[in-house]
Amino acid sequence: MGRVYTGNRADGYQSIAPIYDLSTSWALAPLRREMRRLILSAGYGAAGRVLDLACGTGVLMAMLRRRGVRALGVDLSSAMLGKARRNGLTGSLARADATMLPVRDASVDCVCLVLALHENTREDQDAMLGEALRALRPGGKLILADWLTPRGVVAQAAHWLMHPVERAAGREHYRGFREFLRAGGLEGILARHGLVLECLDRRFLGALGLAVARQA
Ligand SMILES: C[S@@+](CC[C@H](N)C(=O)[O-])C[C@H]1O[C@@H](n2cnc3c(N)ncnc32)[C@H](O)[C@@H]1O
Repeated sequence: MGRVYTGNRADGYQSIAPIYDLSTSWALAPLRREMRRLILSAGYGAAGRVLDLACGTGVLMAMLRRRGVRALGVDLSSAMLGKARRNGLTGSLARADATMLPVRDASVDCVCLVLALHENTREDQDAMLGEALRALRPGGKLILADWLTPRGVVAQAAHWLMHPVERAAGREHYRGFREFLRAGGLEGILARHGLVLECLDRRFLGALGLAVARQA
């Protein structure tokens, strides 16, 4: 992960980074615990390499490292990466655009990608997943969490609660969110890339999915 990011995408998380952990940990803690369980039960311990793509403030990475997992993190936001370093993470963190990963082909055992696809353009959502697949070794696992296209009134209501939050995150972010849902949400992007869904756990009243997938 040696390459330095030289692109010019704006840091949409500058003002969010200082309060991100405080405002999200109550909601994301159960999801992260489940991801850690999935990773440990797949046997990706000290010998494996887990890439947390769009790692944000590095909370999942820190949880994994405490259990002996070799976790690497990549994020576009220097503010979020700064917070990750203040959270005690050192080394194996890189500022990079997930659409152009500074990671060798087939070099990691597992890629995690949580709540980042939906805030990109449709083209970048596909490029991010394509890069995640390029980085994965054959037989490796993808663990993804993102919005599902709602089924039923309860999931629809949960979604409507999320719209103001996604809108407040900025015009580009909100446009990505809406495009992501129109294209079938998490299940849509997995299907477009021909991935085999090993399990899909519906959370937040069916609005958010936690998926384990692999290449066919
Ligand atoms: C809602 S936060 C989620 C952070 C972390 N995955 C978590 O679960 O707490 C979304 C993160 O995705 C990152 N991100 C979005 N698009 C990205 C891209 N194209 N390349 C790298 N990081 C990206 C943002 O900078 C932000 O840190």
